[in-house]
Amino acid sequence: MKPTVPLLAVTMMLAGASLAAAQSADTAMDYDDGIRAYTADDVPTFNIAEDGTVDWPTFSGFRRYHAECHVCHGPDGEGSTYAPALKNSVMRMDYYDFLEVVASGRARTGASGNSVMPAFGTNQNVMCYIEDIWTYLRARGAGELDRGRPAQRADKPEAYGEMEAQCMG
Ligand code: HEC
Repeated sequence: MKPTVPLLAVTMMLAGASLAAAQSADTAMDYDDGIRAYTADDVPTFNIAEDGTVDWPTFSGFRRYHAECHVCHGPDGEGSTYAPALKNSVMRMDYYDFLEVVASGRARTGASGNSVMPAFGTNQNVMCYIEDIWTYLRARGAGELDRGRPAQRADKPEAYGEMEAQCMG
């Protein structure tokens, strides 16, 4: 007869869930290593200036996402009938879990059919740019980047170019 107790329990669960979400969704830039921006937890993040100029890695992530992931996950990280909206996934997923899924893939079989996320671990066109793709998707998920091609971007940092050349070997 007293609904207050279960209601309180639900409220506390929701509070706990949103606290966890707030932690994993920390996108604030803390520092830049000359290649890209990072949060205080050393997780790559975007750096978008007030005039909308997007940092090079985030712009690169936009391009790589649309070259490698768009076909299943839909334009702009919005999702499709086949695969989830990654702009939302990255706001609740741990960065290292994200890397793991992309590198190793994931398959699910069910009554409604098979759904397969391919493993990209040996694909340089994905793995050399995976931080960029993460950063781009987080900018989308945080609501800091509109759909479509970013209108303005910063130049490619020299250190980024060196890292890229080394990775692509
Ligand atoms: C051939 C289609 C296909 C391509 C290409 C593809 N994915 Fe996926 N991906 C899927 C499917 C299907 C799932 C859902 C798998 C499942 O049901 O567990 C998925 C799941 C994921 C997940 C887990 C999402 C979550 O909410 O748990 C991540 C992260 C992911 N993909 C990242 C990527 C990235 C990054 C790329 C591009 C480099 C990419 N995927 C390209 C089909 C694809």
